[in-house]
Amino acid sequence: MLVNTPPMGWNTWNTFGSDISDALVRESADAIAELGLKDAGYTYVVIDDCWSLRKRDSVTKSIVPDPVKFPHGMKALADYVHGKGLKFGMYSCAGQRTCADYPGSFDHEFLDARTFAEWGVDFLKYDFCYRPGGFEGQLLYRRMGMALRESGRDILFSACNWGSDNVWQWIRSCGAHMYRSTGDIIDTPESFRNIAISQMDKLNANAPQCFNDMDMLTVGMYGKGNVGVQGMTAADYRSEFALWCMCGVPLMLGCDVRSLDKEMLALLKNRDLIAIDQDAECRQPIFLGNPEREKKLCVFRHLDGGKYAVAFFNFNDEARNVSFTFSDVGLSAASGLGLRFSPVLGSLEGTYSEYLNVTTDAHDCIVAVCEAVPV
Ligand code: GLA
Repeated sequence: MLVNTPPMGWNTWNTFGSDISDALVRESADAIAELGLKDAGYTYVVIDDCWSLRKRDSVTKSIVPDPVKFPHGMKALADYVHGKGLKFGMYSCAGQRTCADYPGSFDHEFLDARTFAEWGVDFLKYDFCYRPGGFEGQLLYRRMGMALRESGRDILFSACNWGSDNVWQWIRSCGAHMYRSTGDIIDTPESFRNIAISQMDKLNANAPQCFNDMDMLTVGMYGKGNVGVQGMTAADYRSEFALWCMCGVPLMLGCDVRSLDKEMLALLKNRDLIAIDQDAECRQPIFLGNPEREKKLCVFRHLDGGKYAVAFFNFNDEARNVSFTFSDVGLSAASGLGLRFSPVLGSLEGTYSEYLNVTTDAHDCIVAVCEAVPV
């Protein structure tokens, strides 16, 4: 199974937690198709934790979908999601129980992978709670990686061990296609910034076939739901989404897609930002500045086709100048070249040489693409 660019989709956890159902997933799949999110690239509709009964079937040992939450079973739901032209994702855990205390897949990996394949599952998020003593996390991800590969169906393997055990060093070898690299996101500015800052020196391992998952987005949640906590402003959501896109990581929506406002829908469908995220070269960005000390950051990224993306982030509570010295990314004055900018978010336009100071509003960001031109 080839996963050449960061996976995109929607996941139930951030907003709905354990409050999930067949109807919720169908309505969300409808919304993803009808609102143009599917056409923008959001393909995977993923049910997170809390979908099963508390105990496995005593005879078959299979995990049993909760008949109250999912009265038609998972195959019927997968068929519905597939009927919308979308892909169907589910969740399990490498330990004996999931994080919310439902059956995990430990020692049932091959049975569960076959069951998921029979149901038509295309994506498995695989968590890391309740690991039995004496078992290396790495071995448990190898097991499910093999089980999925041998399941008879292409199933995207989304590992979720929160960055433990230097996961970026070995997870690719387990067959995973994406791997959570941090603890859980919540809907606050500090949360998304700290996640991004913690990955600045780890994006070298983010590459085709296995992408660094900085967690589901909180964009558009406005404080509602499971990880809502306090909510953020539209400016913060622009910054969160732009940071994820500049890093080239999976874009998994975590909001209630059925009630997205126009502004957030437009942001999440922004073609230019998504094109940066999905850039075929999948290069790690260059980070300029010290976001912990200065609470601002310039991010520069090589794109396919001879272009570059550049973004200016201001995490302060007042407007600030964010600077970009071209020689820091290798474009020395001796080159005779400047950069011509076209706007993506905000209005940065025109040709500049050597440096640029961009006034960026509080908590907001400005994004542009650029190309080198003689000056
Ligand atoms: C862990 C994961 C979350 C979510 C919950 C479910 O905390 O990191 O993303 O899947 O478990 O219980």
